[in-house]
Amino acid sequence: MKMKLHYSPASPFARKVRVFALETGLDRDIEPHAITVSPVNPNSELASDNPLMKVPTLITADGTALFDSRVICEYLDTLHSGRKLFPANGPARWQALRQQALCDGILDAAVLCRYEAAVRPEQFQWSEWRSGQLAKIAAALAALEREAASLEGELTIGSLTAACALSYLDFRLPEMKWRDNVPALAHWFGKLSARPSFHATAPPV
Ligand code: BEZ
Repeated sequence: MKMKLHYSPASPFARKVRVFALETGLDRDIEPHAITVSPVNPNSELASDNPLMKVPTLITADGTALFDSRVICEYLDTLHSGRKLFPANGPARWQALRQQALCDGILDAAVLCRYEAAVRPEQFQWSEWRSGQLAKIAAALAALEREAASLEGELTIGSLTAACALSYLDFRLPEMKWRDNVPALAHWFGKLSARPSFHATAPPV
């Protein structure tokens, strides 16, 4: 029996899982199920599988529901016999996990900015709050720029998450012009985002 992935085409966290599945060949074993999610209109279709009603949620072949993207990706890495995207141990593992955490943090802040602008009624919007999120993103990008060389080479969960985060900034916060201050990162992203797995999972225009 196939696994089932609840996802939203615009969700960068769901995109992590979709890219991961394509890169490891597991997409053949996963039935994608696109749904709409919103922080103010939780999708009750998800409630029985994930009380947080968030995407991505993966239903494994034995019916277990897994979330969030970190847990799902690590689970998927146990299911294939190719090169692992989660390094098994040592400094490479902690670097990949730390980069994943850093770039998930960029995404958390960027999604909050997106919701603030697109979902919160205008009279309740708070520009200092948005500036605070943007400052977090800028600081995380600067940190990533300093270690851009470490993103080169074989894909890991760290570099995969970085690419999903940068692509989401293009999608939802293009006015940030993130490339302006991080040339090494921009160069690396240009190469990585040409992979078929990234093309196949591009957010809707
Ligand atoms: C978005 O439309 O940006 C979005 C959709 C689902 C989850 C997170 C973000």
